[in-house]
Amino acid sequence: MSNLTPHLLATQFLELPLNNPLMNASGVWCSVASQLEALTESAAGAMVSKSCTLQPRDGNPEPRYRVLDGENQPFGSINSMGLPNEGFNYYLRYAQRHDYEAKPLFISLSGLTLDDNLTMVDALKDAVLPALLEINLSCPNVPGKSQTGYDFEAMDMMLAEVSSGYQRGFGVKLPPYFDMAHFDEAAEILNRYPLVAFVTCINSIGNALAIDLDSETTLIKPKDGFGGLGGDFVLPTALANVNAFYRRCPEKAIIGCGGVKSGRDAFLHILAGATLVQIGTSLLEEGPGIFPRVQTELAAIMVKKGYQSVDEFRGKLKTL
Ligand code: SIN
Repeated sequence: MSNLTPHLLATQFLELPLNNPLMNASGVWCSVASQLEALTESAAGAMVSKSCTLQPRDGNPEPRYRVLDGENQPFGSINSMGLPNEGFNYYLRYAQRHDYEAKPLFISLSGLTLDDNLTMVDALKDAVLPALLEINLSCPNVPGKSQTGYDFEAMDMMLAEVSSGYQRGFGVKLPPYFDMAHFDEAAEILNRYPLVAFVTCINSIGNALAIDLDSETTLIKPKDGFGGLGGDFVLPTALANVNAFYRRCPEKAIIGCGGVKSGRDAFLHILAGATLVQIGTSLLEEGPGIFPRVQTELAAIMVKKGYQSVDEFRGKLKTL
């Protein structure tokens, strides 16, 4: 990383100073303490833990993740992990010893029921930690459970209950939306809740199907091969969702997630309105060394364009 990079990429998230706007996507490099420690020591500007449930879970049967990098197709991944995680108390214990001076920590909760979420929210509140709370409304991979983000009534109730239980700012991770009416309706619900301080767009594009031509078989086992899509396939959808919520939720910070593997992709997310940018599939494939690479590439683009901070171009997307 050049000496200029830290200065150029320094930013703030909800008034927290960060060295740079890059972080992991929840689920990648953040399921166990050794991975969380590696992220703390990495060049990431912030980090988030694996979306957890109240009790530990094994998740779905394997194979449940495949990289898609074959001939004639873009780089990406399909997964149906099914929320394998160590259980809320494990991540709470990590949060109690996290080095917050090194970088902010987001704790992601994905309770299987509203009550489970409220139990975890209460415990996190009682722990009085500087960790940032994210409620994941968008896991597409738990058999028999639909995504709360696609059920606006349930989403409204979740936000009402978490707001009144937590009484501090928190964020939500949303699924991708594909219809202007759905952007409008989701944003209108989010804007009812001033404690919703940030919105992460997007989770994987749910229930895609990847098939191996030779064996005529699905690439992953759970749910007859249906799983969440990440990587190059999802970048334009992620940018659309970042920009849609940036425009509609001016009081909230937006975290961009989806299709980031280079400084160019991170630049586009920030241009669309993201304050932080998460890396998922590419982090899994490349490891935490991806952070300094993407930072160097992002800084080089900024230098070439004459930008001296990420604040200068955030949300400044031009339209025709
Ligand atoms: C999973 O564990 O299945 C992925 C979690 C998510 O997409 O929210």
